[in-house]
Amino acid sequence: MELIDLKNEVRLDKLESVANCIRNGGLVVFPTETVYGIGANALDKEAVANIFKAKGRPSDNPLIVHISNMEMLNGLVSSVNSVEQALINTFWPGPLTVIFPKKDVLPDNVTCGLDTVGIRMPQNNIALKLIELSKTPIAAPSANISGRPSGTDISDIYLELKEKVDYMIDGSTSDIGVESTVVKVVDGEVLILRPGKISPEDIESLGLKVKLDKHLFESISNNEKVESPGMKHRHYAPTTKTVLVDCSDSHKVKEKILELLEENVDKNLAVISYDENEKLYKDMDVKFLSLGNLNDLNSVSKNVFTTLRKVDNLDVDLCIIQGVEKRGIGIAIMNRLVRACEHNVINL
Ligand code: TXA
Ligand code: MG
Repeated sequence: MELIDLKNEVRLDKLESVANCIRNGGLVVFPTETVYGIGANALDKEAVANIFKAKGRPSDNPLIVHISNMEMLNGLVSSVNSVEQALINTFWPGPLTVIFPKKDVLPDNVTCGLDTVGIRMPQNNIALKLIELSKTPIAAPSANISGRPSGTDISDIYLELKEKVDYMIDGSTSDIGVESTVVKVVDGEVLILRPGKISPEDIESLGLKVKLDKHLFESISNNEKVESPGMKHRHYAPTTKTVLVDCSDSHKVKEKILELLEENVDKNLAVISYDENEKLYKDMDVKFLSLGNLNDLNSVSKNVFTTLRKVDNLDVDLCIIQGVEKRGIGIAIMNRLVRACEHNVINL
């Protein structure tokens, strides 16, 4: 594996070697504006199979295909309706994945046998240039072993993936920090299958009708039918027992944590909260981590996965996370936190 540092400069000569590797069926960890991806030539069935192997990904969880121009889209999908076109015009390149009916050129394992495919045009320069130089669409799930938090910084995923890929490109910490919004247009309405930086409000501002999938905050039983297979799988959860307190009143949350401390006198606790609350926990016997500034949810989304990766190193018995308001990118943050806590949620 070769690690390529493009943090300060996008070196085309280096990217050309990586693109060559993609064309020859290799696997590459590369940055996008949302999270890092682990990519392969989307038209090469064997290379795609290797992504599933490298991640230990369940074989029923389809991959997102990344493109760098509209010609690539037309080669992959059998139709684009007017609502999908409006979404593309506004949000591409950017953190929005749209589910389309697929063409047969795509190997079955990209979509896990579904007749639809999720496509996005990323906004990150390295990602766009890599796709362009590879001259092929790149299938890429988030760069992490399945079930682990998604990678938003090379240092978080280096050990986890270094033996499994041919190249890792370091392009600095991901700008957004949570994965793309995944949508499917159903009967002219935009159904959000996974919330992200592009919020329901952003989509509604185009005059479109938006619905949140009913499973975004609920646990799903094994035999339940879901619109997006990824919803069913265990994701982001630390091994440490973790509880989400769904309340943005920091003083109420502190009261609850005092209660939990009393109930768990023999246990070590950690609190994940926000910069402005650090002082609330200063004199308490808890370990404290901050997700950023509660008044700046874009800073919080950047820190979500890196912080979840730290939980198991704190050596505590219970970790309590304070939630954010489910508004704008807060919906995406809460979706990831609810899943990290395996639906262990206290509503105050
Ligand atoms: O931001 C992102 O989307 C990142 C970066 C690398 O682009 N990628 C990413 O991929 O998050 P992944 O594989 O971790 O998540 C893909 C999600 C899964 O929940 C999957 O079930 C859903 O998209 N998905 C993919 N194709 C689908 C389809 N045809 N129908 C419904 N859901 C689909
Ligand atoms: Mg993922």
